[in-house]
Amino acid sequence: MKILITGAAGFVGRHLIDALKCFKENEIYAFVLNKNEFQNVELPAERIFQVDITNIKNVYEKIEIIRPDIVYHLAAQSSVGLSWKNPALTYNVNITGTVNLLEALSVYCNDARVLLIGSAEQYDVKYDTEQPIAESHKLVGNNHYSVSKLAQEAAAGLFIKNTDLQIIRVRAFNHIGAGQETKFVIPDWCSQVISMEKNLHKEACLAVGNVKVRRDFTDVRDIVNCYILLAQNGVSGEIYNVGSGVSRSLEDVLEIIKKNSTRNDIKWKVDENKLRPTDIMELRADVRKLKSVTGWSPKYSLDDSIQWIMEEMRK
Ligand SMILES: NC(=O)c1ccc[n+]([C@@H]2O[C@H](COP(=O)([O-])OP(=O)(O)OC[C@H]3O[C@@H](n4cnc5c(N)ncnc54)[C@H](O)[C@@H]3O)[C@@H](O)[C@H]2O)c1
Repeated sequence: MKILITGAAGFVGRHLIDALKCFKENEIYAFVLNKNEFQNVELPAERIFQVDITNIKNVYEKIEIIRPDIVYHLAAQSSVGLSWKNPALTYNVNITGTVNLLEALSVYCNDARVLLIGSAEQYDVKYDTEQPIAESHKLVGNNHYSVSKLAQEAAAGLFIKNTDLQIIRVRAFNHIGAGQETKFVIPDWCSQVISMEKNLHKEACLAVGNVKVRRDFTDVRDIVNCYILLAQNGVSGEIYNVGSGVSRSLEDVLEIIKKNSTRNDIKWKVDENKLRPTDIMELRADVRKLKSVTGWSPKYSLDDSIQWIMEEMRK
């Protein structure tokens, strides 16, 4: 089975490669934007392709060579923050890049299965929205990232209608795990606490926002196992939420970080500047549809994930 992962050097891609390598029959191919960001990943050099998915010629050439059976399309401009600073890049990568890929696949391997990753950002969620959020929930584009993911999903819908490609679309909720950038709240707090562990004379106090908000966090190792099951068993044309189906508060997160720290004097203090009146109090995925086709449920607890993140950061 030939498997292609786009965005293979990203946070999810690296963990997906680890998970797929356990199946000996898999021949794994990787698209990376820049080979320099792909260090310490054990894949044969001839299966790693430097491809900018916005470059249609580049995409066609490489898809013609590989002709994959399954594609995990993870490549994206994945930051909401950057989408405000560079909307054109966001639309170019997330829409044009996806269309280039789907077009090339429809030409060279027209019955390939494709797992296309969207986001919970696509949902219209307000501070008091009833939870959990099902796939039928109203959609909205509140930032350029979410608009690009909505468009990606809609464009894929046309390929589902007009080609033999089998496309399974995902709306993923928050992931956590080792290797995630510190612009996200959990790795940010973990890294601050670890630096406090090294500076014992420094006061161990984190400045935090609203710690009552609850989010649906899933360990990236569980996410990639879920993606593998969805690529096998998901129904083409369908859209699936991917999340744990459980929400945990940021206060819980802080307690777990505190428990896992080598310092016993970790405290936190609410910084008024970090409070937003419109904070969405809870975000939780309705995962009944996902479970009905995959039988998947997460193995790692929030404690496991935070312990893992902190251990990896200390190395
Ligand atoms: N991490 C999360 O919490 C989360 C949640 C919901 C959805 N998602 C989605 O899951 C997917 C994977 O997320 P991630 O956290 O691994 O993101 P990431 O930003 O870590 O990885 C994305 C990868 O895409 C590559 N890329 C960017 N532009 C490219 C281009 N023009 N050509 C080729 N490659 C390009 C980047 O180099 C990077 O390696 C993305 O589609 C993201 O939007 C992630």
